[in-house]
Amino acid sequence: MSQWAKGVCARHQNIDILINNAFQFGERMRFENLSDSQWHKVVDINLMGTFRVTRSFLPALKVGRNPLIVFVGSIMGKWARAGFSTYGVSKAATEALANVLAQELAPDGIKVATVYPSRIRTGLRIAGYGSNESLSSEPLENYLSLMEHLIRSRDSFPTGSCWFPDDIGL
Ligand SMILES: NC(=O)c1ccc[n+]([C@@H]2O[C@H](COP(=O)([O-])OP(=O)(O)OC[C@H]3O[C@@H](n4cnc5c(N)ncnc54)[C@H](OP(=O)(O)O)[C@@H]3O)[C@@H](O)[C@H]2O)c1
Repeated sequence: MSQWAKGVCARHQNIDILINNAFQFGERMRFENLSDSQWHKVVDINLMGTFRVTRSFLPALKVGRNPLIVFVGSIMGKWARAGFSTYGVSKAATEALANVLAQELAPDGIKVATVYPSRIRTGLRIAGYGSNESLSSEPLENYLSLMEHLIRSRDSFPTGSCWFPDDIGL
């Protein structure tokens, strides 16, 4: 992913928006049964991927127009869900990173925000819960509207803010 980020930055010197979306659920299993390699596989993609991509894009974001970095949060980074330690730990860590970056990048004019999608039936959820998941799913359009709102209004909200679909009446 960092090679891809370097390629994008070589083609585009100014970048306005970075959305840290890529994540994996990992296998649903008890923490005590996780091997080192199962832990590393998920945390490397989720946490190190976010870290490397964000770092690669910073020079281009610094010269972007109202630059914004969006992190995609999850309630699993805040509240425990048994069987998903790798995902929960990754989300909690990226949330902490978002908070630090909001402070560190404020002098550069780069804003940071975290969005929390509601439950949406995607490949990630099916990988984590299986295709028979009985949990309800929110419309994808609500999430896309929230993201669009965030990008359009990025010059008017404080850095470090968190966003839920409810915040725009969805
Ligand atoms: N769905 C929900 O209910 C929900 C709730 C809360 C938060 N979220 C968050 O929303 C974000 C998007 O997830 P989603 O639900 O939309 O699932 P998704 O459709 O499966 O999307 C996951 C994305 O991550 C990318 N990805 C995974 N591993 C990668 C890797 N090693 N290198 C590059 N890209 C990789 C995937 O790329 P490919 O398509 O190329 O595989 C895909 O674009 C995630 O951060 C997730 O934690 C989702």
